[in-house]
Amino acid sequence: MRLRPVPWQRAMYSPTVTSQNPAPPSSSSARPVLIDTDPGVDDAMAILMALASPELDVVGLTTIFGNAATDVTTRNAFSLLETAGRTDIPVAVGRSNPIATDYLGPVPQVHGTDGLGNASLHAPQEQPVEADAATFIHDTVAASPGEVTVLTLGPVTNLADSITRFPDVVDLVDRVVVMGGNALVPGNATPTAEANINNDPEAADLVFGADWDITMVGLDVTQQVTLSGAAIERIMAHPSPTGTLLAKAIPLYRSFFEATNGIDGIYLHDPSTIAYLLDPAAFTTNPWPLRVETEGFSRGKTWPNLGDTDDASPPAWRDRPLVNVCTGVDAIQVAGLVEERLTR
Ligand code: BDR
Ligand code: CA
Repeated sequence: MRLRPVPWQRAMYSPTVTSQNPAPPSSSSARPVLIDTDPGVDDAMAILMALASPELDVVGLTTIFGNAATDVTTRNAFSLLETAGRTDIPVAVGRSNPIATDYLGPVPQVHGTDGLGNASLHAPQEQPVEADAATFIHDTVAASPGEVTVLTLGPVTNLADSITRFPDVVDLVDRVVVMGGNALVPGNATPTAEANINNDPEAADLVFGADWDITMVGLDVTQQVTLSGAAIERIMAHPSPTGTLLAKAIPLYRSFFEATNGIDGIYLHDPSTIAYLLDPAAFTTNPWPLRVETEGFSRGKTWPNLGDTDDASPPAWRDRPLVNVCTGVDAIQVAGLVEERLTR
């Protein structure tokens, strides 16, 4: 695992993009973050939270299939930027299928047929940049070597694509934070696999095998962080474009959790990664090498090696880099931070 000090300067990327909103002045200490995403109701919450956080400078969105097909998640990415008044932020379109298989398909029972809880938003007018997501990821980190955090909220296909086509991306990135996986707890897409990793296990095994500073924010922590029904009501009632959008997007997602988990609230999967960037002290991590199962009924399972990491390590884990695996979280603190940022 590569650990380096974190310089928080603004990343510079100059894509060809139609811009309707001027970029707001960015704090010189804001951390540049590129978000790869499949919006997605909880992706929407995470992105709006990031855009409301002066500590972060969102330098681009790249889109991927997962909660919905890539054309749908791309449209949603633009809707979120419009909502936040940040259409100056470039969007690059990602892959439509996993690197080795076909897309498993959308999950309308969780995120709606439109990926945003059937919010019925108007069609955004903005256009993506010409570069595809893998190229955009590479070019963005290459423009500011060692400065940009790449945060993934969906299947990690675009990042795997970038590693394969532009191997120097591994040295150019500052750090990678992945929402996905399950180290010590069951899956949510299958009994053994978490949804993002299950959507492209081959890509995930590549990404967790690259020698960069990488953190896994998986179900071990995100299923501990519940946003209560009362907090949801406060966010949806907030008199802002964010409150208005989430009031349309959250109800279907909320009823899914009520029906399947029996809770009055929602798990904060993707927003927990933003909380990790803002307040890492709220999380406990373990440095473990990880493999991702690509065969059989546990396909998509993230397997840490909890034992020897030297030459006594089983061959499958030998010479694998360490991954910061989140296993503990101050759930009250994180849920409070999410609510605070979404009601600013
Ligand atoms: C992950 O899967 C998706 O449904 C969510 O957006 C989140 O990224 C949780 O397993
Ligand atoms: Ca997601």
